Formats: sequence, C-alpha cells, structure tokens
Amino acid sequence: MKGVLSVAGCLIICLLRQCETAPSVANKNISPVILVPGDGGSQFEARLDKPSVQHIFCTYKTENWYSLWLNLELLGPYILDCFVDNMKLTYDPVTRTTKNQPGVEIRQPGFGNSSSVEWLDSSQLGATSYFYHIVESLVKDLGYKRNVTVRGAPYDFRKAPNEMADYLSALKNLVEDTYAKNNEQPVVLMGHSMGNLYILYLLNHQPQAWKDKYIRSFISIAGPYGGAVKTLRLMASGDNLGVFVVNPLTARQQQRTMPSTSWLLPYDSFWAEDEVLVHGPSANYTVRDYKKFFDDIKYPDGYSMRQDTEELIKNLEAPGVEVHCIHGVNVSTPAALSYSKSKSYEKQPDVITGDGDGTVNVRSLQGCQRWIGKQKEDVFYHQVVGAEHLAILNNAEVKAYIAKVLSS
Ligand SMILES: *[C@@H]1O[C@H](CO)[C@@H](O)[C@H](O)[C@H]1NC(C)=O
Ligand SMILES: *[C@@H]1O[C@H](CO)[C@@H](O)[C@H](O)[C@H]1NC(C)=O
Ligand SMILES: *[C@@H]1O[C@H](CO)[C@@H](O)[C@H](O)[C@H]1NC(C)=O
Ligand SMILES: *[C@@H]1O[C@H](CO)[C@@H](O)[C@H](O)[C@H]1NC(C)=O
Repeated sequence: MKGVLSVAGCLIICLLRQCETAPSVANKNISPVILVPGDGGSQFEARLDKPSVQHIFCTYKTENWYSLWLNLELLGPYILDCFVDNMKLTYDPVTRTTKNQPGVEIRQPGFGNSSSVEWLDSSQLGATSYFYHIVESLVKDLGYKRNVTVRGAPYDFRKAPNEMADYLSALKNLVEDTYAKNNEQPVVLMGHSMGNLYILYLLNHQPQAWKDKYIRSFISIAGPYGGAVKTLRLMASGDNLGVFVVNPLTARQQQRTMPSTSWLLPYDSFWAEDEVLVHGPSANYTVRDYKKFFDDIKYPDGYSMRQDTEELIKNLEAPGVEVHCIHGVNVSTPAALSYSKSKSYEKQPDVITGDGDGTVNVRSLQGCQRWIGKQKEDVFYHQVVGAEHLAILNNAEVKAYIAKVLSS
C-alpha cells in the first residue's frame, strides 16, 4: 500500500539496485500470472483543461496526456501544489463517491500488460522499479513472456472497491482472457500490498465454480489485511514520502482525500479498544474513536469514507483458492503516533514503533492466517525476516519462493 507512502520512500534503494541475470529455462505448462499493484503502484496519466489553478505557474490546459504519477519532477517544492491539486479527489456526501478536480482527467495506461506495473517513473530523474524484478525473474528463470503469460492490472489506487465496479469487472475479464489465451491454464493472481485486498474482494464475489476453473492460486505479498497505523498519519499530518515531498501538509491535502486511505485505517478486528493509536494534542484515539478523530483533525469526510469502505473485506472471508501468503517482519513500523500537547496536527508526530514490514503492522500482515482451516484449499504462510514493504519485491528469498511455487 502506501505507494503514496512507501513507493517513493524507497526510491533510492530501488534506483541503486542492479538487475540480476540468470539463464532462461523453458517451461511448457506455464501458469500465467496477473500482477495487481498496491497503493501508489500504478502509473497515472493526466490531461488538463482547468477553470482555475493554484498558482500562476501551474498548467491550465494540456493538449496531450502527460505522466502524473509517479513523476518525481512534479514532487518538488512549489510545483508540488500543482501536482496535489490535480491528484486530489473531492468527496460527494450525497452520492458517497469521489471525483477528480474540475477539468482534470486521469487514466491508468497499460491495463493487461506488465510494463506499467513494472516501472512507475521514467522521468529524467531515473526509472523506478516496482514489479520489474519479479517479472525479470519469471522471464529469465521460468520462460514467462511479458504481456502474454505475465500481465498487469493497474488501477486508480486512490479509490476503494466500492467505487471500482468497472475495474473489478475488467480484472475478471482479464483472468478469463489470460486463461483462454494460454491453453486454458488457470491463472495465478499476485498482489502487492493493497492489491491483495482487491484480489480478495474480487474472489469473495465470484462463485466457487469460477474460482475452481480460472484460478490456480493467489500469491499475496505484504497484504495489509487489518489496515495499518501509518494511514492515520497521512490523515492527520501528511507524509512526505521519505525525502521527496518537501511539505507533508501539502501532500496531506491529497492523501486524505483518497478513500483507499480510509479503507486501510486499522480495523477493530485487529486492534483492541484499549490500544491508543494516536495520542492527540487534546485526546487519545483508539480504533473505536474514528468519528472524533476525523472531527478533531477537521476532515469529517474521512469518517464518511471509512463508513463507505469499512465492510468491504472486514470479515476476511476466505478467498476459496490456494493461497501463498508472504510478508516481511522485524522491520521497525509505526505502531502509534504521538502529538504532544504543544504540537498541533500541523506538526509531524513522534512515531512509536513496533513490528511489521516498515509500513504495515505485523498483526495485519498475518491476517491471511485467519483463512487456515476456513477453506478446503491450502493456505501456505511464509514470513521473511527483514523484508521491507516495498523492497520485498526484489528480495532473493521471495523470488526463489515464487519461482518454486510457479514451477511446481
Ligand atoms: C508489452 O506492452 C508494452 C505496452 O504496454 C510494450 O511497450 C512492451 O514492448 C510489450 N512487451 C512485449 C515483450 O511485448
Ligand atoms: C500490450 O502489449 C501488446 C503486445 O506487446 C500490444 O500489442 C498492446 O498494444 C499492449 N497494450 C497496451 C494497453 O499497452
Ligand atoms: C492519553 O494517554 C496517555 C498515556 O497513554 C495518558 O498519559 C494521557 O493522560 C491520555 N490523554 C488523554 C487526554 O486522555
Ligand atoms: C525480531 O526482532 C526482535 C527484537 O525486536 C528479536 O528479539 C527477534 O529475535 C527478531 N526475530 C528474528 C527472527 O530475527
């Protein structure tokens, strides 16, 4: 998740990493793979014809589509305001849906192909890898073909499934199309972060016969099944994406408008009612106090969006397919936030840390274990010590595990 959280936060690591090469091995009965990215893990293109702009130097109108996310050139000081104004959503309390700013069109290029989820940014500041290393390993070691046996399903990660019926139906069609084009081989759905929650939602809404026919397994990497404390920070005071966004309060204007951020708030099925998640300037907040929390941070729409999304996967109904659940542990992860009395939400909090993968708390990552014994298909569970939320996508142990699953 937390692309808007950790994709950019981890850029440097990814930029410095070299790709490894290995001999290719042909495999006749390949199980095709569909990659479902997390929060921040899809490219966005925008086209503008705006009635007004934030600053004189922000663009009103573009003839063509341009790269909006991830585009490091748009995250610098001053122009960050323009970016945020194009990226943020407006919530309509009557229809309970969100929409872009007036005159802003946004699309996600490359649906069905792997490229747009392999790389996020290709501006002159350097290309940022996402699923690239896993895809390279499938292609080089197992004989997979990009766009044919390994495909991608990018989407508008700002939103939660309640607003994404078209995407979910396109994803279902992509599964059927991939099955048909590959010798009727059942498909492996591989998610990262929030992508796993989308996969779960899709599977929860298909008949068992459909799953038996089309799905070989679900490989879940770093799934935030019970939410993550880090989202409370995005809501309250914004996140500066590591080093790239200069002003977290500017980023907050966009981050808090995403229904997906509300969807990923910690769940009361994972956190107890006496665990304080936010020590605020004037009150403490637990999972039971979101109404007051959103009132106090002066963003009541956030609570409405929570109500719209809270039930989508809350019961963690078993997916009804073979599961391989993989995640990192032993990385220091925000467990609670502390705003001292003198600090308002306009100041960044002290972060109290606990176990997890750096973004998602360990109890949430372990949510997939709740399916053990709840479905007839196997649930395999594999944790990787020290694998950070995003870096796990280029972790040798994880790539080897995936290769073993896919070639067995
Ligand atoms: C896959 O599709 C992308 C466009 O989405 C294209 O740029 C790329 O060359 C394709 N790769 C292969 C191997 O066909
Ligand atoms: C996906 O890749 C195929 C093959 O490379 C190409 O023909 C097609 O146009 C691509 N689709 C998109 C949406 O980029
Ligand atoms: C919040 O919790 C801390 C300790 O967890 C406590 O010292 C403090 O008094 C609480 N603040 C309020 C306003 O309840
Ligand atoms: C994880 O970290 C804790 C300390 O935070 C340590 O006691 C434990 O041994 C570590 N676990 C592994 C598997 O390294």
